[in-house]
Amino acid sequence: MAKTLWDLSESFSFDRVLYAHDIEASKAHVRGLEVAGLLSTQEAATLLATLDAIFEEFASGVFEPAASDEDIHTAIERRATELAGDVGAKLHTARSRNDQVATTLRLFTRDALRDVALATLELVEALGELSALHPEAHLPGYTHLQRAQPVLLSHHLNAHAFALLRDVDRLSDARRRLNVSPLGAGAIAGTSFDIDPDYTASLLGFERAFANSMDAVSDRDFVAEALFGLALLGVHLSRMGEELVLWTSAEFNFASLGDEFTTGSSMLPQKKNSDVAELARGKSGRLIGNLTGLLVVLKGLPLSYNRDLQEDKEPLFDSFRQVLLVLRALTGAYGSLHFHDEVAAAAANDELLVAIDLAEELVSEGVPFRQAHEQVGLWVAESLATGRSLGDLVSSVPSSERFGVLFESGAALQRRSSPGASGPHARADQSALLQSAIADARARWE
Ligand code: ARG
Repeated sequence: MAKTLWDLSESFSFDRVLYAHDIEASKAHVRGLEVAGLLSTQEAATLLATLDAIFEEFASGVFEPAASDEDIHTAIERRATELAGDVGAKLHTARSRNDQVATTLRLFTRDALRDVALATLELVEALGELSALHPEAHLPGYTHLQRAQPVLLSHHLNAHAFALLRDVDRLSDARRRLNVSPLGAGAIAGTSFDIDPDYTASLLGFERAFANSMDAVSDRDFVAEALFGLALLGVHLSRMGEELVLWTSAEFNFASLGDEFTTGSSMLPQKKNSDVAELARGKSGRLIGNLTGLLVVLKGLPLSYNRDLQEDKEPLFDSFRQVLLVLRALTGAYGSLHFHDEVAAAAANDELLVAIDLAEELVSEGVPFRQAHEQVGLWVAESLATGRSLGDLVSSVPSSERFGVLFESGAALQRRSSPGASGPHARADQSALLQSAIADARARWE
């Protein structure tokens, strides 16, 4: 092989991280060969011990790659043959790298999805802890980044928590479809040997074995689904990052990060930067890129295996790694966050945020909502034009006592009492829902 082709095609430099899963798959394959009568009990035992020894070499960092190790699969088989001679040379019976790599990558992805799901649950819990530290805290809720209505901090943070729990749920969906074993599909068309793919599937904890060998070796939809789940999770994390950037700015000043989660400036001595939040925002770019990159690789590939598929690995590894980095750092950052209750409450007590309550009060007196909306809009316009406070202004309309209570601190929040609303009434329901969703997800993934 020309050196330039070798450099292009070798993947050991990045797929060696698959060693544990490749060895796990090979051990199941050995037991399958034994049951099929293709290996004696003695040969199978030798091979299993050899594979364990190779695992130890990788785990302890002493595995010596050979110049001929093209990928993790050839490296392990080469070493098995060195250690066990002819018995090692039987390892690849009734198997191709095509079903092998698909099996290994599914096992790897299944474990990595679990790591991400559990790390996401930790972040959800950190949000819950922050809410619990500030049970009465409230802030303006925004639409169009303009102050809209007051909301409890817990309600606001729960909005992120519910989105993250859907991400965990999506990872569960991806896991369910991924959990099918390709082992036994061979290069494309199976084998003439009497193997039992269901047996090796069950050894590896798969739900079942493939139904179609060509599908088994050629599709990477499970990689695409994992990358989509990670990309969308990354998009949610980027929104949270953006919010922290805003909250920790002098302009908002709703919160500050613990010193250990901020960085300084190489020039400006006063700077305390929210890099953690910016990186959470920025990483979403490559997560989306990894997904679109893979989809383009898959598009138009003829059946069945094509070497293009080797391009599935680096984006997958990268997305898992980056998402975990962000999840762990953000979990720490929320744990360190000082929420400035008073600053946020002052912003939430902006009396213009009572406008909807004025309108709703008129509605409860029988005024059609559109007319109430217009009336309050006129009051707001007048307040803005004259500089007279809205509360003061409405106090001069007939029987205005009914409006006075609406301006009392916290009143608008108390009035948000419909199901799922931002006030204290819905708080218990939401946290019960969140707690049971977290417990369900933990049970499923642990
Ligand atoms: N390293 C390869 C991959 O990632 C393994 C499969 C190679 N198969 C082959 N027919 N060349 O896809």
